[in-house]
Amino acid sequence: MSDRKILVTSALPYANGPIHLGHLVEYIQTDIWVRFQKQRGNACYFVCADDTHGTPIMLKADSLGIPPEELIVQVGKDHLADFTEFGVAFDNYHSTHSEENKTFSSLIYTRLRDAGHISSRTITQAFDPVKNMFLPDRFIKGDCPKCGAKEQYGDGCEVCGATYSPTELKNAVSAISGEKPIEKDSVHYFFNLADFTQMLTDWTRAGHLQPEVKNKLAEWLDGGLQQWDISRDAPYFGFEIPDAPGKYFYVWLDAPIGYMASFKNLCDKKALNFDEFWAKDSTTELYHFIGKDIIYFHALFWPAMLNGSNFRTPSAIFAHGFLTVNGEKMSKSRGTFITARTYLDHLNPEYLRYYFAAKLSAGVDDIDLNFDDFTQRVNSDLVGKVVNIASRCSGFINKRFANTLSANCSETELFKEFIAANETIANFFEAREFGKAMREIMALADKANQYIDEKKPWIIAKQEGQESELHEVCSTSLNLFRLLAAYLKPVLPALTTEAESFLNIESQTWPTIDTLPLTHHQVNDFKPLLTRVEADKITAIVEASKDNLEKTASTVKAEPIKEKQFEPIADTIDFNDFAKLDLRIAKILKADNIEGSDKLLNLTVDIGDETRTIFAGIKSAYAPEDLEGKLTLVIANLAPRKMRFGTSEGMVLAAGPGDKEIFILSPDTGATAGMRVK
Ligand code: MSP
Ligand code: ZN
Repeated sequence: MSDRKILVTSALPYANGPIHLGHLVEYIQTDIWVRFQKQRGNACYFVCADDTHGTPIMLKADSLGIPPEELIVQVGKDHLADFTEFGVAFDNYHSTHSEENKTFSSLIYTRLRDAGHISSRTITQAFDPVKNMFLPDRFIKGDCPKCGAKEQYGDGCEVCGATYSPTELKNAVSAISGEKPIEKDSVHYFFNLADFTQMLTDWTRAGHLQPEVKNKLAEWLDGGLQQWDISRDAPYFGFEIPDAPGKYFYVWLDAPIGYMASFKNLCDKKALNFDEFWAKDSTTELYHFIGKDIIYFHALFWPAMLNGSNFRTPSAIFAHGFLTVNGEKMSKSRGTFITARTYLDHLNPEYLRYYFAAKLSAGVDDIDLNFDDFTQRVNSDLVGKVVNIASRCSGFINKRFANTLSANCSETELFKEFIAANETIANFFEAREFGKAMREIMALADKANQYIDEKKPWIIAKQEGQESELHEVCSTSLNLFRLLAAYLKPVLPALTTEAESFLNIESQTWPTIDTLPLTHHQVNDFKPLLTRVEADKITAIVEASKDNLEKTASTVKAEPIKEKQFEPIADTIDFNDFAKLDLRIAKILKADNIEGSDKLLNLTVDIGDETRTIFAGIKSAYAPEDLEGKLTLVIANLAPRKMRFGTSEGMVLAAGPGDKEIFILSPDTGATAGMRVK
């Protein structure tokens, strides 16, 4: 059908924690896409690996009293077992702590260095004098310099949202030893990302990115590219830099190179041609599926590293959103931080594959797993619509026709309609619009059920002389079921394999106009293919996930600690969300300084029908006395927010780059307090 050659990756999960349902959004999304490509006849390879290096993994091994090498082997096995049971079928699952990765990391580094893209200089950093190691921002704790909240990390305050550098923390201590960090100098190596500004500007505009991602990158590029610190000092679990003893590659330098390493490992096993996929002039396709939190690494650093070391760049980066459970961030105390293993202990993995498929699109919107919706969708679509077709008709074929389908497929129009949908459904899969593909397939399933409802085989079965009608109706229905199974195959590999063995057919390729109905064909006895989701199973999962919390309470590190990353992209909101905003012009009646805050002012504003207190972070641009009498735009229906200084009853909207330039409205715009803005 086609001779595309495609290499696909999912992001490499960190080797310091279990796979959870959030991760699975990505691995299931990628797996569905890869299975679809294979079913279409393309040569498609899916590789991944564990991301094994870095401080959190080193410290986790430390706390368990084992060497990191031992930790990563065990975690790697657990990860692969989870993926396999969820039907995520990698062609190769490797490790970043591998010979191949060491070789490619050195090669890429050396090429970048020889081309002049690496520089070094001395920097000052926090150092733990007890542990004798430099402390990443995440491992320094102290009081927030802005709001004073205790126990905040060195990279930002979870209470007031301030970001700052760890040296600004008050009463800072090392999160590892509890000791006060000292400042220490050391030489670091940097990748000169700015050398690639033009290359990246062109690349990010050339159709390799989703529109919303492209816009985000344009912002980053406009802001100017900084040097990227790619070295860490010993002790560090990673690869030593070839020409710099005691210095190690920062985990994010060798992590994406892990994609190449895993593929090289596969090439060696399967005698594939590595260069055909990675050489600068490669004509094969390369796709990286990632979460929106790691776009910076994949769409800036990675293409620049590849370009600078004479390798090809990716054909596209496909970013997805984050999983929420029942509308909220996954949470251990609510029992919604659900590991892959806990889910597998209670429910069929294909339910989740179907549910994610039904919710996934090509965008970066977050995805919500709502338990009621999950139960309802799986039960009504998979059990009630798809499997139901086979269970309604197979009994008659078995008892009355010795498991043989009729010589004719009577309803050729309906069969043709199902076949004719193949391109539309394929286009949705190709474009990662899985939700749309599922809706299309379920619309066909509805048609098959309508057909059965109209023909009423259970009534024909009781009438004399209607044998051949009964035979044809049931045979037609099973032929329709077969096409549905073909279309659902990328999403439900286990269910559709069982359907194939019931239908007594080979593994199905993608239907085409040449696909003929099965006639005069012997099928096997039907066995129930899928049971309904039961509510008590979900309760059990939530309970078991709370157990998890108790068991791991003392070693809270069960949740992977991320290396510092970049701001996630804000999701788009739909019109309904927008319509909910009560935007109004407000008149500032009074503005006061707030003791202990160098950012916020306390504003008393008139929003037409009432007076409100709003704290606004505009002190850098305005003295209180300049504001009185001015107008500003506010969100009047924002839920009140309790802060250290009192409750803020709304939000001021002002534009500008910040600091001295934050603009509010002047009173001579003609607007008046209380005016609604839409
Ligand atoms: N090790 C890095 C990736 C290196 S790739 C060269 C990493 N690991 S991770 O374990 O934190 O995440 C692995 C993937 O899972 C990432 O793409 C991440 O975005 C995704 N997800 C992790 N939690 C997620 C959700 N809650 N929801 C959706 N995807 C999530 O980042
Ligand atoms: Zn704070």
